[in-house]
Amino acid sequence: MTRPDLAATPNKAKGCWTVSRIRKQKGVAPIAVLTAYDATTARYMDEAGIPIILVGDSLGMTVLGYESTLPVTMEDMCHHTQAVVRGVRQALVVADMPFLSFQVSKSQAVAHAGRLLKVGGAAAVKIEGGAIRAETVRHLVANGIPVMGHIGLTPQSVRAMGGYKVQGRSAESARALVADAVALTEAGIFCLVLEGIPAPLAAEITRTVKVPTIGIGAGPDCDGQVLVVHDCLGLTPSAATPRFVKRYAEVGDTMRQAFAAYKDDVEGRRFPAPEHSY
Ligand code: KIV
Repeated sequence: MTRPDLAATPNKAKGCWTVSRIRKQKGVAPIAVLTAYDATTARYMDEAGIPIILVGDSLGMTVLGYESTLPVTMEDMCHHTQAVVRGVRQALVVADMPFLSFQVSKSQAVAHAGRLLKVGGAAAVKIEGGAIRAETVRHLVANGIPVMGHIGLTPQSVRAMGGYKVQGRSAESARALVADAVALTEAGIFCLVLEGIPAPLAAEITRTVKVPTIGIGAGPDCDGQVLVVHDCLGLTPSAATPRFVKRYAEVGDTMRQAFAAYKDDVEGRRFPAPEHSY
């Protein structure tokens, strides 16, 4: 029987990254994670050897122009996950579960996560939230769906947090985050994103749990790091770049210059030149 859905399945090549291989990286080598939302960018990341590509719901802001991740839909996530999977040969593709796709019930969470694997072609899903999500994680994992956890500054809770604020600054909230990490690990996550928390707390969580931690704004002692690709490439305004971001290129400036040069050439009748014409 032909299985067209499997055509989109990642990890087609030898040396591919799997959930179990990621787990074994803890204490062996740091894990570099980036977000991607399209096939071309994912292909360059894959060629660079990035082990995990996250189709983050940050695409709501970076690609779709929303002010938060809240409006992102399952359709958006499936569409962009499929594109990323088409660009990848070796990386593990993880798809974010968008706001309200996993909170309503465990069975709805399985249906939505399953769709990201079956239709989107992802190898795993990511869920925001701590101990309150442990039962859902357990249910997903029991149904064969690998889960990446995400605690600390969880952007889908921006309304409850009253903004994008560093979490775990008080002793009480730090203790709660350690308990969240333990609860999610016991529920079966294969790795854990720690976002926007003090570096010493991230180090403590990293020492406490047996799955790799992936930090973003969580200091140097996590088992890996993740950046949003638009931040990494300099595609976000530099004035709005958070402190935890390192801009590895200024692609935004390069794009602006290229577009202006093209416009000048067209308006000055320098493009197309004879070598561009049939
Ligand atoms: O949506 C996203 O890009 C994320 C990362 C920042 C971890 O959740």
